[in-house]
Amino acid sequence: MRLFGKTMTAAAALVMTTSISFAEDVEVLHWWTSGGEAAALNVLKDDLATKSIGWVDMPVAGGGGEAAMTALRARVTAGDPPTAVQMLGFDILDWAAEGALGDLTEVATAEGWDAVVPAALQGFSKADGKWIAAPVNVHSTNWVWINKAALDATGLGEPATWEDLVAVLEAMKANGITPLGHGGQAWQDATVFDGIVLGLGTDFYKAAFIDLDPAALGGEQMAEAFNRLITLSTYVDANFSGRDWNLASAMVINGEAGMQMMGDWAKGEFLKAGKVPGTDFVCIRFPGTQGAVTFNSDQFAMFNVESDGAKAAQAAMASAIMNPTFQSAFNVVKGSAPARTDVPNDAFDDCGKKAMADLAEANTNGTLFGSMAHGHAAPASVKNATYDVITAAFNGEYADGAAAAAALAEAVAAAQ
Ligand code: BGC
Repeated sequence: MRLFGKTMTAAAALVMTTSISFAEDVEVLHWWTSGGEAAALNVLKDDLATKSIGWVDMPVAGGGGEAAMTALRARVTAGDPPTAVQMLGFDILDWAAEGALGDLTEVATAEGWDAVVPAALQGFSKADGKWIAAPVNVHSTNWVWINKAALDATGLGEPATWEDLVAVLEAMKANGITPLGHGGQAWQDATVFDGIVLGLGTDFYKAAFIDLDPAALGGEQMAEAFNRLITLSTYVDANFSGRDWNLASAMVINGEAGMQMMGDWAKGEFLKAGKVPGTDFVCIRFPGTQGAVTFNSDQFAMFNVESDGAKAAQAAMASAIMNPTFQSAFNVVKGSAPARTDVPNDAFDDCGKKAMADLAEANTNGTLFGSMAHGHAAPASVKNATYDVITAAFNGEYADGAAAAAALAEAVAAAQ
């Protein structure tokens, strides 16, 4: 809508036509509690404040959002859901199937979201043809973050293959640092495993994690994937168990560890610490996964609310999230790529530009897949069963990769 030569947002138009003011705040449940995440969250909070949308914070710490989802379930069961919830992939669709989510179709249609949000994301933002969530970003999990000085000290280049990777890890070990900064939490182990499996082939990743093909889950390639995971587990320090992901990032930032295999929210930590890509750290795709991307998208799902004021506040928040200028400002800080295809990459650093280019390329080439570790490949029941086997393998509980693969096929079959 044009008014006095200015384009009004659809949410503002909704407010005008129904004479609603934002008497109601939005209560936002999220798990953005690390330094980099909080910095990005502030970009969102500040943006909403300029639009007079009040914010009631409900942070639930825990990377990957498992604890947040448990807290959410408790709130909904008590009949008191938060207004807006950070959510991933299949969790959004599960809540929609329960009839718990509001409908953002009016604002989405007015603002033309269909034309600018990539289809892979829309698959999780819509149910039964209705918009049920607003995507704020696209992260991807197949990244490695390397301390540049530690890499230079090895005399080796950026690893492009599995064999290169192991050579760099060995050289870092010989140089007396912890080669792999890692936190032993199930979702972090699974994040590493996303990269390993994708590195063994895009068809294999799809067959195992998206199609849940028992032959792929329990076969020889999966045995090799687990053997690689077991190899990686030998490069972590003695205190890795239970460590939060951002503390593992800090180890790489301060040179105590050589590298971290983590989604690009890790970049938010490097940036928050004043580190510069290409100078202080390098970002590479998990060796062997160049040209392919395992993505996850943080979306804000809006829960059913009664009052028109609360509904208007939800629509206004969704509209603010989808604004292209906001998407640039937010994702520059968060480490992710925008959830719209029409956001310029000018404000992004080299890793951000690479993230955006890789995403577009993978989307075109059919090598863009939902992340297993971050809820975009299969529903939570399957994801959690997969986590259990991965973590057990990382902790040496199987005789070898073949035994772990057999356990995975069995666990996934039982979870469906
Ligand atoms: C989310 C990110 C978040 C990360 C660590 C992922 O599942 O998509 O936004 O930064 O977990 O907490």
